[in-house]
Amino acid sequence: MPADKIKHVAIIMDGNGRWAKEKHLPRVMGHHAGARAVERVMRAAKDLGIPYISLYAFSTENWKRAQSEVKGLMGLFRYYMRAKLSELCKENCRVRFAGNIAALPQDIAEILHEVEEKTRIYNERNLIICFNYGGRQEILDAVNKIIAQGTKTPVTAEIFRRSLYLPDVPDPDLIIRTSGEMRLSNFWLWQSSYSEYYFTRQYWPDFDKDSLEEAVRNYYERERRYGKA
Ligand code: FPP
Repeated sequence: MPADKIKHVAIIMDGNGRWAKEKHLPRVMGHHAGARAVERVMRAAKDLGIPYISLYAFSTENWKRAQSEVKGLMGLFRYYMRAKLSELCKENCRVRFAGNIAALPQDIAEILHEVEEKTRIYNERNLIICFNYGGRQEILDAVNKIIAQGTKTPVTAEIFRRSLYLPDVPDPDLIIRTSGEMRLSNFWLWQSSYSEYYFTRQYWPDFDKDSLEEAVRNYYERERRYGKA
């Protein structure tokens, strides 16, 4: 039985640092090359007709990195969001962010809000950027939202889902992680219950159209049973 048509591919973009190290470049150059890989993959996703792509861009744990790297990453996001906004609109792509945006440096939070506002009207494609995101924090935020609402009835999975950051986004069908690591690292914890996983040794900056096609081909060879026999 072939798998359902793929709707959402979620990506843990790992290996930027190692890619740079192997080339004797500063780590931040790996992130720049990673951003170019994002552009390639967005074009490939369009050709493959994948309506939702989500990217783990910055986790709640990434603040522990060297200050210079965090600064470099923030600068890169700042630049990319500004530079690519008009192209995203032309591509009919809605961009949303999942994570604690309010805790970000104010100018970045403002840019992210602007990108969300300006792309709100588009609906052909969706780019979800997990930024200052942690899956456990998302679950805790949902619990606290429900408590604050004073709900008296038992909380069902459906009620719970409605309290997540982006409740209307379908759960990821496929989660890709590059660079040979085989962990979820606090990504989409609630949403990944029935996701298929695909791991590749390729570093994220080397990931391209062929890589995405290979991952999607592999997905379609699998049988998803959702607990059924
Ligand atoms: C993990 O590689 C990568 C990140 C923490 C940052 C991901 C960010 C980008 C690809 C930048 C562009 C994104 C957008 C949305 C414009 P790592 O540094 O942990 O690599 P390592 O494990 O080899 O050290």
